[in-house]
Amino acid sequence: MKKLLRPLVGKVISRLIHLCGIIRYGEKDLAKRNIQRTANIHDMVTSPDEPYYAGQYLHWILSKLDEQFPDRGINILDLGCGQGRLTIPLAAWNRNGRVIGVDFTKEAIETARRYSEEKGVPNAEFLVDDAPHFLEKTPSESYDCVVFTEVVLMLPQYDKALQHVHRIMKSDGLAFISFRSKYFNLLHTIRERNFAGARLAATQQTGKVFGGAVTFSWQTTNEVVELLSRLGYRNTMCRGIGIFSGIEGDPLETIARPSLLSEKQQSELSDLETQLAETYADCGRYILAMTTK
Ligand SMILES: C[S@@+](CC[C@H](N)C(=O)[O-])C[C@H]1O[C@@H](n2cnc3c(N)ncnc32)[C@H](O)[C@@H]1O
Repeated sequence: MKKLLRPLVGKVISRLIHLCGIIRYGEKDLAKRNIQRTANIHDMVTSPDEPYYAGQYLHWILSKLDEQFPDRGINILDLGCGQGRLTIPLAAWNRNGRVIGVDFTKEAIETARRYSEEKGVPNAEFLVDDAPHFLEKTPSESYDCVVFTEVVLMLPQYDKALQHVHRIMKSDGLAFISFRSKYFNLLHTIRERNFAGARLAATQQTGKVFGGAVTFSWQTTNEVVELLSRLGYRNTMCRGIGIFSGIEGDPLETIARPSLLSEKQQSELSDLETQLAETYADCGRYILAMTTK
């Protein structure tokens, strides 16, 4: 009996905490606070599996940038940059250019500044701001490249933000935008036996799929391509990030967690994940869209 009651009591307590949060901060503010709290705890540079996925993003991003801007020295925006997991290597690539990282989590930006100093990349600048606010005040055609990874999934009105990203890109600019895959949310909810969440994931593209205060969004590759083309982007290509693996808590962690592998195994996994990233783009933890204006 005790065993049966324990999960129920846990659920009731977490529901009560959630309701108290809504009463205290209002729903919108509570969602923002929850995102910021997670961003503060989960350091994207030092968390065990995140550097592996940074490697996957950079594999695609740097090869495209090398192709498009062989002389480097460009203007790059990393929107929702966290602790600078991608901003710092991008600044190292772009030595005679500028990279600006923007995030609304103050602690993440402070950490990013510290990491960039340690890495000696003075051309990386960091700013605390809300992405939609930053985008609205940014002049048109001001960036050669916009990186927007693992943020859209938690951004209310993400289509409006994507419209602005398109506006602030130069005419020969590139954007790298990642979206939560629908497949990931289906695996996650089914593993939890959260069939209401799974039905939501199957039929919609946004919602409170995991309960809690944050409204998430998710897509298939077809939906990503359709959305970006509707907003004026061209030449969109999708690649799956983490098609056979995951961080702690992800559904695919039982297949492989990069940080639990030897260096050789990690490199084998990485080769397979990049080789098959196009074929299985819909199965990624995220879908990376590489697109032009
Ligand atoms: C999963 S992390 C990704 C960080 C980074 N893009 C990367 O790939 O390493 C998500 C980040 O988005 C930031 N974020 C979420 N919503 C935001 C918003 N409205 N404005 C600015 N930053 C936001 C969070 O603070 C967090 O640092």
